Amino acid sequence: MGRFLSFEGIDGSGKSTQARRLADALRGLGHSVTLTREPGGSPGAEEIRRLVLEGDPDRWSAETELLLFTAARRDHLEKTIRPALARGDIVITDRFADSTRIYQGITRGDLAATVDRLHDLMIGTDPDLTFLVDIDPETGLSRARARAGTELRFEDMGLDTQRRMRAGFLALAGTHPRFRVIDGARDPDTVAADILRSALAHLA
Ligand code: ADP
Ligand code: TYD
Repeated sequence: MGRFLSFEGIDGSGKSTQARRLADALRGLGHSVTLTREPGGSPGAEEIRRLVLEGDPDRWSAETELLLFTAARRDHLEKTIRPALARGDIVITDRFADSTRIYQGITRGDLAATVDRLHDLMIGTDPDLTFLVDIDPETGLSRARARAGTELRFEDMGLDTQRRMRAGFLALAGTHPRFRVIDGARDPDTVAADILRSALAHLA
């Protein structure tokens, strides 16, 4: 059985950059790594990704959105994550259920209890180790905007929302020992070295 690692944080914190760098570093050390992401990570979940990330911010109710993210995650788990763990891979995912706990659980009405029940019912698993890449929302948003593209439904929610999400992630990290909080404001090399050290300590 392999190991299951995730990256979490607000938009533009540097998760994708660091997930890729950790995957490359571990492969360089001879590990077999599956690098994946959410929403998405399997063909079916990538189709759902387009539904949730593009279009009008008010396109879905909070409840419908929660069901779509959970459906995508279930497919990702069945088709990509579980098979990779069964092969003995280290699975690194750019976002997982903590994103739902924060984005759907606290930002649009208090759906937290529903999020937890649906997770228990349909997903039932969490990573062994989670890197929370922490950054102030101003920096995150300006990085995310600079990257541009069409997947802007969540970035469009604005600074106040990003602030609440940052606080939510930090609170969540404080109550679960699987979290490592990483200062994402430093240069990418320093952040990557910090994360690799922490990952190797965990894998040992
Ligand atoms: P996320 O996946 O959290 O949204 P990304 O890894 O896509 O973040 O990074 C968002 C943008 O910020 C990208 O353009 C990336 O090159 C840049 N970036 C990532 N990490 C850093 C860093 N430590 N310092 C400055 N810019 C960064
Ligand atoms: P992502 O592609 O990781 O965006 P970014 O690189 O900008 O962080 O995720 C897209 C958006 O989807 C992001 O704003 C967070 C949101 N999201 C949720 O709201 N719930 C979820 O369960 C997941 C996985 C993502």
